[in-house]
Amino acid sequence: MTVKKKPKGAARARARSPRPADAPVRVIVLAAGVGSRMRSSLPKVLHRVGGRPLLDAVLDTAERLSPAETVVVLGAARARVETAIEGRPVRVALQDPPLGTGDAVRCGLELLDASDGPILVLSGDVPLLRPETLAELVRKRGAEDLDLAFLSFRPPDPGAFGRVVRDSRGRVRSIVESKNATPRESKIAEVNAGVYCFRAEALRRCIAAIRKNPLTDEFYLTDAIELIARAGGGVEAVEIPDWREAWGINTRRDLAAAEEIERRRSVERALDSGVTVLDPATVRIGPHVEIAPDAVLHPFVCLEGRTRIGEGCEVFPFTRIADSQVDAGAAVGPHCDVEGARIGPRSRVGPYSRLRPGTVLEEGVRIGNFVETKNAVLGRGTKALHLAYLGDAEIGADVNIGAGVITCNYDGENKNRTEIGEGAFVGSDSQLVAPVTVGKGAYVGAGSTITKNVPDGALAISREGQKNIEGWAARRKSKKAH
Ligand code: UD1
Ligand code: CA
Repeated sequence: MTVKKKPKGAARARARSPRPADAPVRVIVLAAGVGSRMRSSLPKVLHRVGGRPLLDAVLDTAERLSPAETVVVLGAARARVETAIEGRPVRVALQDPPLGTGDAVRCGLELLDASDGPILVLSGDVPLLRPETLAELVRKRGAEDLDLAFLSFRPPDPGAFGRVVRDSRGRVRSIVESKNATPRESKIAEVNAGVYCFRAEALRRCIAAIRKNPLTDEFYLTDAIELIARAGGGVEAVEIPDWREAWGINTRRDLAAAEEIERRRSVERALDSGVTVLDPATVRIGPHVEIAPDAVLHPFVCLEGRTRIGEGCEVFPFTRIADSQVDAGAAVGPHCDVEGARIGPRSRVGPYSRLRPGTVLEEGVRIGNFVETKNAVLGRGTKALHLAYLGDAEIGADVNIGAGVITCNYDGENKNRTEIGEGAFVGSDSQLVAPVTVGKGAYVGAGSTITKNVPDGALAISREGQKNIEGWAARRKSKKAH
């Protein structure tokens, strides 16, 4: 049998009222700071980690909690940041001038309605948090009916982070900013991640009570911890075991460190899901990339955007693939650049190929060195192995594109289409001046400039006939000797 302790005073009163634990969370993201330590004309939250702006990373994570509403607090750079987050289900609060994190939260609160339920405060410059960690923070605050739960961590060097001050019994008493810390406090290893889950009413009370810090003239949100602890309200830190998750970005050095953490993390995710990564130190995988098991990634491979790599694919060294789909068993690289393309099953691309947006390779297509494709569909089993440009083209199955073939798709004003029928053979160094059609099973002789449609099964040839002059070389030599 378990015996429940009777809750005391205020806690007893709260215990009687229905708990807001299950109420949907509302989110305030702080992103109005100047970010002067970045020494950049770009707002700090628009700098990228893993190819994604910091603010996007934070909003993506917050969205996973299905918040009832999200308010982003922006400052002087509002217009620029707003454009970057257009289309997201968030509202923007303005804080100008930036008077500190406490003042920023006050601005955000003005936009939220007065309803109960937990309020999650996130920092726009803490981009590596996992949704599971945020969910745990919200769960803990609810389960223990706390006024505040916040995330703490122990970085290798506590540096500029706020220190978590505890009493002799280990209870959280306050957060002291490093600028304000005594030498003794500076030595504290546990620091504040800048991520908080408040009871709405406690947050409102604190924000009204926070005073300007005399040293910096800023309103510190972190003063809320001491205010709550003094009033006897529940406040707890949830320590993140892996400090990397809580890494905050104030400087370019911090940004570079975050990039490496994120890079390493995405490689490890791939490894755990059954992908072979030959050199984990040099491979980059973006946050929205999906890779099926038994794919093999060689050194210096870069996968970006909404890319999907199918089962058993192999990506060879120095290859970048962005916003593309590579189907099972295909091989790409080395030294390829692929963007907005679809590579069909068992196709082979590279070395040195460039697939541009709108490229669709069906099954078993082969693209070789110095071949560029754009807005081009290549049918099953078609080959273009050397030095070609295929743009605005519809090419059937089992076509052979010889070395040096060019679709002349642009007449200076318009883009025109080239169609090549199934089983056609386009000889080397031919130009197909679009709009033009090469029929099914037709042949184009090497070195032809094709300006008229070629019927099915025909041979088109448009070069001058060859003339051989017998004995010419010997006559030239003897002339030189005299
Ligand atoms: C803050 C915390 C510190 C914590 C660290 C974690 C305070 C006072 N300190 O310090 O305890 O260890 O984060 O990363 O909160 N912002 C505004 N308006 C402002 C000021 C800041 O919106 O007036 C935003 C910033 O854009 C940023 C976030 O709040 O996204 C944090 O501000 P920042 O100045 O970076 O605080 P830190 O010094 O890192
Ligand atoms: Ca910061």
